[in-house]
Amino acid sequence: MFTPIKLSNCNVTSSTRMIRSGMAFGLTDPKTGAPTPEVTDRYIELAQSKCGIIMTGGLVVAQNGKDHQSQSGLHDDTVTKAHAAVLSAVKAKCPEVLVFAQITHAAHLSIDAPEDQLTLDTASHDVAKIPQIYADAARRAVESGYDGVEVHAAHGFLLSASLSPCVNKRDDEFKAGPELLYRVVCAVKAVVPEGFPIACKLNSNDWVEGGLTPELAVDAARRIAPMLALLELTGGTVDPSLDCTRGVARTGKMGRQGYYYAKETSLIRAAVGKELVLAGTGGFRTQADIESALDGDLDMVAPSRPWLRNPRWLVDMEDTGTPSACINCNACFRDHGVCAVRQKMIAMGKE
Ligand SMILES: Cc1cc2nc3c(=O)[nH]c(=O)nc-3n(C[C@H](O)[C@H](O)[C@H](O)COP(=O)(O)O)c2cc1C
Ligand code: SF4
Repeated sequence: MFTPIKLSNCNVTSSTRMIRSGMAFGLTDPKTGAPTPEVTDRYIELAQSKCGIIMTGGLVVAQNGKDHQSQSGLHDDTVTKAHAAVLSAVKAKCPEVLVFAQITHAAHLSIDAPEDQLTLDTASHDVAKIPQIYADAARRAVESGYDGVEVHAAHGFLLSASLSPCVNKRDDEFKAGPELLYRVVCAVKAVVPEGFPIACKLNSNDWVEGGLTPELAVDAARRIAPMLALLELTGGTVDPSLDCTRGVARTGKMGRQGYYYAKETSLIRAAVGKELVLAGTGGFRTQADIESALDGDLDMVAPSRPWLRNPRWLVDMEDTGTPSACINCNACFRDHGVCAVRQKMIAMGKE
């Protein structure tokens, strides 16, 4: 868990095998869409808790790509100054931590999407322009001082939807499959410096009838693997039932304990080989689960909500063996990155 690991296809090393998977905090300047200075302290907290890589929350590549109002972006050259200020303050205190900018677009799940787009995604976009829009955001990530960029192809948003046969109904070169994702990763690679790490957060299974299956995820993983420093596997969609997080809110139908995507991970590991650094997200709460995954198919583990429930959970777990106290209630989803349970415990003087 706490040993370093060199990422694939670059000379960058993470100081531990622990990632904080992407999570938007809602700390955004409403006028500019840039992150507010408060993000700095949140990242420092994570860095001081043995997190090797912090994935930012999804940063929109275009202003019309937000899935919630308080989402930050890399959509415009004017925002890089604010990102750079956060990063230089974090690096001044915690030089070892790596911070990757996660770039995304919500497409038909965007708050700006017209009603008639809600069932059809990529067909309504000028798809050929999309790779350059992601590349521009990646360039801004480099200019801001991020250590890497993570292409978000999960949870039902644009690139995830492009992979999903039940959503992407196009019949041209961008029909359901890895073509758009591949072109986006190529376009990103073309603008970042040689050896700059590119990660991808990829659905391994949509858990939706007619959606992306593990076999289709294998095709996508194989196609982009040679360009990646790290592939982070996840699954489910935010629409309609929050299967990407699993928990009490809006869904009770899936199991809530342990790593959600172990079976899919084995399939993808077999397809991409041992060279590619593979991370997994979803359901990690105990030291035993993390260690067994790291002894198996995963090189890195990427929890998300446990860091929100208690930013020190990992060091506490190392000291006492106590698992994360996150109860998967998903109230943080409703509250855009605020853990109501933690706040209640603090108010009661219990934490
Ligand atoms: C409040 C909240 C915000 C999230 N924001 C993002 C995001 O911006 N990007 C992303 O890839 N995943 C996001 N996720 C999903 C998490 O990264 C992760 O995939 C999911 O919570 C399952 O992992 P966990 O069980 O360790 O929390 C978010 C989840 C929550 C609860
Ligand atoms: S609100 Fe807190 S306890 Fe509930 S799922 Fe989110 S992080 Fe976990």
